Amino acid sequence: MNTESTLESRVGAHLRTLNKRGLFRTLRSPSGLDLSSNDYLALSNHPTVKASMTAAVQRDGCGSRGSRLLGGHRDAFGTVENSFARFKGTDRALYFSSGYLANLAVLTTFVEPDDVILSDRLNHASLRDGIRLSLAKRVVFPHNDAAALARRIEGTSTKGQIFVVTESLFSMDGDRSPLQVYAEICRRTGALLIVDEAHAVGIRGPNGSGLIEESGIDKDVLVSINSAGKALGVAGAFVAGPTWAIEYLAQQARPFLFSTAPPPAVADAIEASLTIVRDEPERRAQLRHYAALLRERLNDKGISTPSGDTPIIPVMIGGNRQAVEVADALHAEGFDVRAIRPPTVPRGTARLRISVHVDLAETDLNRFANRLAAVFKGNVPCPVASS
Ligand SMILES: Cc1ncc(COP(=O)(O)O)c(C=O)c1O
Repeated sequence: MNTESTLESRVGAHLRTLNKRGLFRTLRSPSGLDLSSNDYLALSNHPTVKASMTAAVQRDGCGSRGSRLLGGHRDAFGTVENSFARFKGTDRALYFSSGYLANLAVLTTFVEPDDVILSDRLNHASLRDGIRLSLAKRVVFPHNDAAALARRIEGTSTKGQIFVVTESLFSMDGDRSPLQVYAEICRRTGALLIVDEAHAVGIRGPNGSGLIEESGIDKDVLVSINSAGKALGVAGAFVAGPTWAIEYLAQQARPFLFSTAPPPAVADAIEASLTIVRDEPERRAQLRHYAALLRERLNDKGISTPSGDTPIIPVMIGGNRQAVEVADALHAEGFDVRAIRPPTVPRGTARLRISVHVDLAETDLNRFANRLAAVFKGNVPCPVASS
């Protein structure tokens, strides 16, 4: 049997199925008005952030040449980890080359096979993959349903530890988890809370450190995972928490141990981003203003959106092909909007995931709402608006 051609035909069949279901993806560089990226504070192109990175490349070169525990460490990593820990209000922080890897690290390092993990149904793939790799029992609870979470914890018996894992600001729905209630449940039951702040860090809380800060539950969280590739505009992610937990990650987390450290220059760039977040709270205020304004403009046009004050605004469409058609039509008119389809979101809930950024103008938001309404009217029925 020729295994290569068997595999090729099996893969070919899978690719055809993706195509038939409207799930085939194409790579497209950003073009048009950005209404889809995670660069909420427009820091990825900020002159100070860029200058910091460029100067660091001149100083340290491009690659780190090894993993952090071997030749890849640089003082800049230690400095930015200390800065992030201060920013987050934790004892320590450890920097990973991506949020995906940071989530795998947390879930495979602290969790042991006898433990039980309660996971929100809409948690990000990196959390779900980490849970799977942890070998612990996974119990899924309905999205943002604190009562269901409490019932499931009460119904769980284990000799091990119970963990609760959630995002604080959900990446594809733009809603917030009830962190204060979760904290209370964890205090009462002895469960430990792990919070992914990927989309909240930089934009929420009085100091911009995220929804843990905004909710006042700093003392109730075991560790948080904070991507630096979204509002902070650079790359990688920090796990923040108590000294003992972070030291254990540095000693044991396989994604930290067995991977080349990121280019050292990213540390300097993140340092610059953190300074801007700290010194310019008006960026967060502007973002909230735009988030409210676009929701209002879309609702005025009959396009319903979940209420809220976050920069992620899902416009539900349902069908995969329909979602792509709407995104393509908007792209043709100069808007960089992307269709989000399964497995990123549950089947039957394909959507546009609109995100706002501080470098937009109000006229952009008005123009976009008008055009989206026209696309729905002209090409594709708007299921949510008419329901
Ligand atoms: C909730 C959530 N967690 C983790 C990640 C992964 O972070 P990174 O992009 O830094 O790998 C993402 C990225 O999309 C995310 O949305």
